[in-house]
Amino acid sequence: MLFGVFPAFSQNDVEAGAKVFRTCKSCHSIGPDAANRTGPHLNDLFGRAAGSIEDFKYSKDMMRAANGGLVWDIEHIDMFIEKPKSLIFKTRMAFRGVKDPVDRANLMAFLRQFSDDPSNIPEAEPTMAAVDPDVHPLILAIEGDKEYGAYLSGECTTCHRVDGEDDGIPSIVGWDVEDFVTALHAYKNGHRLHQVMEMTAKRLSEEEIASLAVYFSEL
Ligand code: HEC
Ligand code: HEC
Repeated sequence: MLFGVFPAFSQNDVEAGAKVFRTCKSCHSIGPDAANRTGPHLNDLFGRAAGSIEDFKYSKDMMRAANGGLVWDIEHIDMFIEKPKSLIFKTRMAFRGVKDPVDRANLMAFLRQFSDDPSNIPEAEPTMAAVDPDVHPLILAIEGDKEYGAYLSGECTTCHRVDGEDDGIPSIVGWDVEDFVTALHAYKNGHRLHQVMEMTAKRLSEEEIASLAVYFSEL
């Protein structure tokens, strides 16, 4: 499934990401007049084959990864930005990495604006087959605010359909509130692995999750 925009992110995230990009700017440019500098330009990065900018001289290790088929999808961009050397051992990108996952998510929201085909939202089998860990009773006891949930739900309904149809992306309407909260915490704490949902859940507070749970349960 292709998405024209990265729906999990809001304009705020893009603006926050523009600030994180300042740490890249000394070496990379992006946008209409972008050119290679110390690092290659980053236009059309999403879905771009690694090491593929013609007139840029990459490290041997980057070219080895490129020959191995490395493509800059959201997962690999995230890994590389977190700690460049852990993905490309002898990369020439002398940069220690961006540790905070929220900063990285925001940064990708920013970078994504400059890609024509940011089509890398992975569509996966729901991971619900495994049993999710129990959520603390105090968290389950948080009372959600349905209206606040409705307000927040716009971020979800770009992917999950409000009519409960499941066309590749699972339906989340009419769930039991506890199950819903438990599932989102499973993404939040990394028990369920799915890049987009992990990033989505990590940025939601417990109150926000409770509110979304109430809202969607009653649809
Ligand atoms: C000190 C300079 C420097 C900084 C700072 C830097 N980079 Fe790089 N970047 C490079 C170089 C040099 C390469 C080429 C690496 C190689 O060939 O191993 C590179 C490669 C990349 C690539 C792979 C591109 C391709 O065409 O395969 C991505 C993606 C990337 N950088 C993103 C970032 C982001 C995002 C930031 C900021 C968080 C950043 N870089 C910060 C110098 C830098
Ligand atoms: C970019 C698309 C996208 C967005 C935006 C998104 N989701 Fe998801 N969501 C998915 C996909 C794909 C899955 C299946 C993931 C998997 O395999 O675990 C999923 C799974 C879920 C599940 C578990 C479903 C199941 O059957 O186990 C819940 C609950 C959920 N999402 C809630 C939300 C909420 C709440 C939001 C908004 C805050 C949201 N999602 C935003 C794509 C998205």
